[in-house]
Amino acid sequence: MHHATRVFPLTASPVFLAVLADPDSSMTSAHSLAASLAIPLVTDPCAATLLLRYSSEGLELFKPGDPSLPGSLRVNFSSPGVTKRCTDPGQELLIRATKIRHTSEPLLTDTTAGLGYDGFILAVAGFQVHMIEADPVVAALLADGLERARHNPTLAPVVERISLTIGEAQDVLPRQMKHPDVIYLDPMFPRRSKSALVKQELRLLQLLTSRTTTSPEQLLHQALAVQARKVVVKRPRTGPNLLNLRPSYTIRGKAIRFDVYVGSGKAPTPLPTA
Ligand SMILES: C[S@@+](CC[C@H](N)C(=O)[O-])C[C@H]1O[C@@H](n2cnc3c(N)ncnc32)[C@H](O)[C@@H]1O
Repeated sequence: MHHATRVFPLTASPVFLAVLADPDSSMTSAHSLAASLAIPLVTDPCAATLLLRYSSEGLELFKPGDPSLPGSLRVNFSSPGVTKRCTDPGQELLIRATKIRHTSEPLLTDTTAGLGYDGFILAVAGFQVHMIEADPVVAALLADGLERARHNPTLAPVVERISLTIGEAQDVLPRQMKHPDVIYLDPMFPRRSKSALVKQELRLLQLLTSRTTTSPEQLLHQALAVQARKVVVKRPRTGPNLLNLRPSYTIRGKAIRFDVYVGSGKAPTPLPTA
């Protein structure tokens, strides 16, 4: 197969993002990825600020030469953290917030799929999940995680219920083949605080996704226009309501809350301006 990607042995100033042609990893996969993301393929780890690499455990993102970020970011649906969340999904506030009755195979659109962990739990809980992710690099990491999970006999039936579209949710939402029962929005990143540094993986993710331009308000506006049975928004526990709209109800956790907008075409009541 012919790929148009060039291999850059060394560049004077590092590019932001590249695929590392690692001698241990498949060159064909590395070439294809660099071509599909339209980013350089490099052989020198110093040639880019952020690097993607096919390791023996799957596609990973890392920041070479940053001692504060020694780890890498990879989607792993069989990690202990995900397995723990999957053992009793009914305990998850997210599942309580998205739950709908009287539908045998409810369809949920996860408009901000990210690394896919919330979407995966929702599929475990029985939803058909349509994931949408705007950032092509995050989407590549997610697609790789889903592909590996597809080969795991325990996870394969869950992955069967998941589809992924790469694109901006506001473009994809109006063009969905099937009308979703529930739309989920998680535009939120945990904040850095003195006591708890944002986990390394999230910091790597933030480096990428800070490039997304749509505001959470625009996204909610678009989601409400679809007139699903529910729109569920993850928010910081004490954050203001998006669009100044009062949700139908709220489910609160320690650090976050889920604002639930119920109804089909029924505009939620604006909060009175004080
Ligand atoms: C906080 S993360 C979501 C985390 C996710 N719930 C999980 O469990 O892994 C937000 C993600 O939404 C994506 N995003 C933001 N705005 C978007 C939009 N308008 N359309 C699609 N994806 C978007 C970002 O690229 C980022 O990956």
